[in-house]
Amino acid sequence: MSGTGDRFQRDTKYEQGNMPGHKLDWAAKPDLYKEYPQAGKIELPAFEPAQAMSLDKTLRQRKSVRDFQDRPISKGQLAYLLWASTGIQRVEDGYEFRTAPSAGALYPIETYVVANNVKALEPGAYHYAIRSHQLELLQQRDLWRQIAAAALGQSMCATAATVFIWTAVFERCKWKYGQRAYRYIYLDAGHIAENLALAAVSLNLGTCEVGALYDDHVNAIINIDGTKESTICMAAIGVPQ
Ligand SMILES: Cc1cc2nc3c(=O)[nH]c(=O)nc-3n(C[C@H](O)[C@H](O)[C@H](O)COP(=O)(O)O)c2cc1C
Repeated sequence: MSGTGDRFQRDTKYEQGNMPGHKLDWAAKPDLYKEYPQAGKIELPAFEPAQAMSLDKTLRQRKSVRDFQDRPISKGQLAYLLWASTGIQRVEDGYEFRTAPSAGALYPIETYVVANNVKALEPGAYHYAIRSHQLELLQQRDLWRQIAAAALGQSMCATAATVFIWTAVFERCKWKYGQRAYRYIYLDAGHIAENLALAAVSLNLGTCEVGALYDDHVNAIINIDGTKESTICMAAIGVPQ
């Protein structure tokens, strides 16, 4: 059986001598940072893991955790997870690079947070403003029912302290790579997701990636259009049982 995915894989191959040649239009380069200027801003505290964990131990301990205690995570832990998954980690020649690699350093992935049970943070939906390391409030209310329903009813999204939603702003990557950008966008999201999983282990927290979701239900929770920007995947995060 073949379909859209097979055609996509075939049509986006690079072949020697038959490369898509186009000049980059630097004037049209999309902005790499999404911002919500009107939104209320929440400062994220500086946070370091209580004790360093070796990469070897972290890798051995990582597994998908779906059963969470009814306990909050701290705002500092949330801040660390956001930074570790996608924060700015260095500046070279004025260009800001992040903790996870990205094809062409175009960083198409945005991170949103559904806070169910985070100390000193009202339940609701937030956008992570990477550059200022702040949260931007999108809507303030309990969303655990909605986010679990949007994840095909997976209850871990209701019991998680927080759920990260990763979206892609497709044009950021398409600007350079055209349709091949979709390959890179999904890879970029995977790198960020693994950064999160390992960072969570180092804080003795658990995560599970969530790919089974109703795309447009998740898009509606964070009020994105599903075309220029759409959900790629999510992760449930909490204190393991
Ligand atoms: C892209 C992706 C999507 C996933 N989606 C789900 C999901 O929707 N629900 C779920 O329970 N686990 C999901 N998982 C977790 C996998 O089931 C899990 O990684 C796999 O069984 C291996 O187990 P481990 O992570 O404990 O090593 C997903 C993992 C990945 C990488």
